[in-house]
Amino acid sequence: YTKDKYPGIERSTALNQLSSEDITFFKSILPPTSVITDEDDLSSYNVDWMRKYRGQSSVVLLPKTTEQVAKALAYCNERRLGVVPQGGNTGLVGGGVPVFDEVVISTQHMNGIRSFDAASGTITCDAGCILEVLDNYLAERGYMMPLDLGAKGSCHIGGNVATNAGGLRLLRYGSLHGTVLGLETVLPDGTVLDNMSTLRKDNTGYDLKQLFIGSEGTLGIITGVSMLTPKRAKSTNVALVGLESFEKVQETFHMAKDMLSEILSAFEFWDHKAAGLVRAHHGVGHKDPLTSQYPFYVLVETQGSDSEHDMAKLNGFLEKLLESSIVDDGVVAQDDTQIKSLWSLRELIPEACSKAGAVYKYDVSIPVPKLYTLVEDMRERLAAVGLLGQQVEEVIGYGHVGDGNLHLNITATSYDSKVTQAIEPYVYEWTAKHAGSISAEHGLGLMKAEKIGYSKSPSMIHLMRQIKQLIDPHGIMNPYKYFPSTHQHQHQ
Ligand code: FAD
Ligand code: MLT
Ligand code: ZN
Repeated sequence: YTKDKYPGIERSTALNQLSSEDITFFKSILPPTSVITDEDDLSSYNVDWMRKYRGQSSVVLLPKTTEQVAKALAYCNERRLGVVPQGGNTGLVGGGVPVFDEVVISTQHMNGIRSFDAASGTITCDAGCILEVLDNYLAERGYMMPLDLGAKGSCHIGGNVATNAGGLRLLRYGSLHGTVLGLETVLPDGTVLDNMSTLRKDNTGYDLKQLFIGSEGTLGIITGVSMLTPKRAKSTNVALVGLESFEKVQETFHMAKDMLSEILSAFEFWDHKAAGLVRAHHGVGHKDPLTSQYPFYVLVETQGSDSEHDMAKLNGFLEKLLESSIVDDGVVAQDDTQIKSLWSLRELIPEACSKAGAVYKYDVSIPVPKLYTLVEDMRERLAAVGLLGQQVEEVIGYGHVGDGNLHLNITATSYDSKVTQAIEPYVYEWTAKHAGSISAEHGLGLMKAEKIGYSKSPSMIHLMRQIKQLIDPHGIMNPYKYFPSTHQHQHQ
């Protein structure tokens, strides 16, 4: 197996290898087309969105019902076969693809909407529903999904819950820990934990569903989700501004909270390197709508119920920013097409970064005043060791200012241990020193399994391991991910 590819990770001897009898069993519980063994058909399930992580699974299961998931999992548990749950495979930390020969269980065929209550705005659905499909369904009924992200056309709601995805509007609509009302989950032994509650309030005992939100497939498979969805805003407005410094980005943020308060729905920033990559990779259609180029850009979105009132507020906010010389230039979208076009400047950044030979992605939470210092320090460091402008192409910063969440991306000609060693552990040490989190929203997956100690104490990790041991005693669920391997040195 890929010994050299993932140095330090060895295939678990506690897990068995797949046999032809296993395939026969899977075919007895699932329709033949739901058991994929053909090599060509397997490849897209074995490789992640970035094409950075590649596993060698020889079977992918596509169950349609919770009962089928339960039968498959119970069997894998008995047989000690490793399992990787997979949704839309848009994850960015190598969590959704196998490392070795684990069985992939995909939620692709579990895509039914179970119910929607127009009075309360609660939706219940299968875990494999695509986020954008759910949002379109709700749009027709005057509601919206409380989360939105660039991968909405492919990611599954189960994957979103499993990674506790944040996204572009967390600052307004909150995290999935608040909007998920209930979950249906299958435990490794096949037990179906039916907690598809639609209640807003339920204080009977431990809130077990919270354990699965952000568990990245290490505790079981989420098969159903019940969510509280907000009313779709009648008016959405978007402005883009250009700024000279990150201090001014912060001043803009404070003023946005002050002047836009209850209608503020997104506050995103990116730097000129990110803007340059989007221009380069997505062509003239994505030219800067501002009169010239700036070191920083901020996209501000408002959502409310009265478009005249909201537009007046947004215009007043922009006037104040220009008057006080906080921003140098700004533009307000005049219609839906312009709104989409301004948003695309932000949403296309991950794709533009991924066009390089290699992209090193870091997703950290840091107190806002220090948010961009990491990008500057990293640039300095990579220049000092002679890599910037050579193997390293760009050091890029963008992210969700409203949530104190920076995406630091480093593009390079190829993945190379020299580059990795120049970035890590420096980036994690820097983040820990500034009381940040090394995994703000993308999760730990394979990439950061060994790094959890930079953000969590030994006693917290110990309790997490005990929970894992209790629910998944044979360690079949998403092995090699999330937790540091026991034979390796733990960071703290
Ligand atoms: P996958 O990639 O298939 O899986 C992700 C993890 O969840 C894996 O560990 C997998 O084992 C587990 N998993 C999946 N389904 C289940 C299930 N049913 N039960 C148990 N475990 C499961 N993330 C953000 O937080 N904010 C963003 O703004 C954001 N933007 C993105 C933009 C782009 C262009 C891309 C490519 C990714 C972005 N992401 C973002 C990453 C984000 O984690 C994923 O997009 C999304 O939440 C993962 O959903 P998925 O269905 O693709 O899951
Ligand atoms: C984003 O905010 O665009 C996503 O989290 C994806 C990324 O970081 O590249
Ligand atoms: Zn993000």
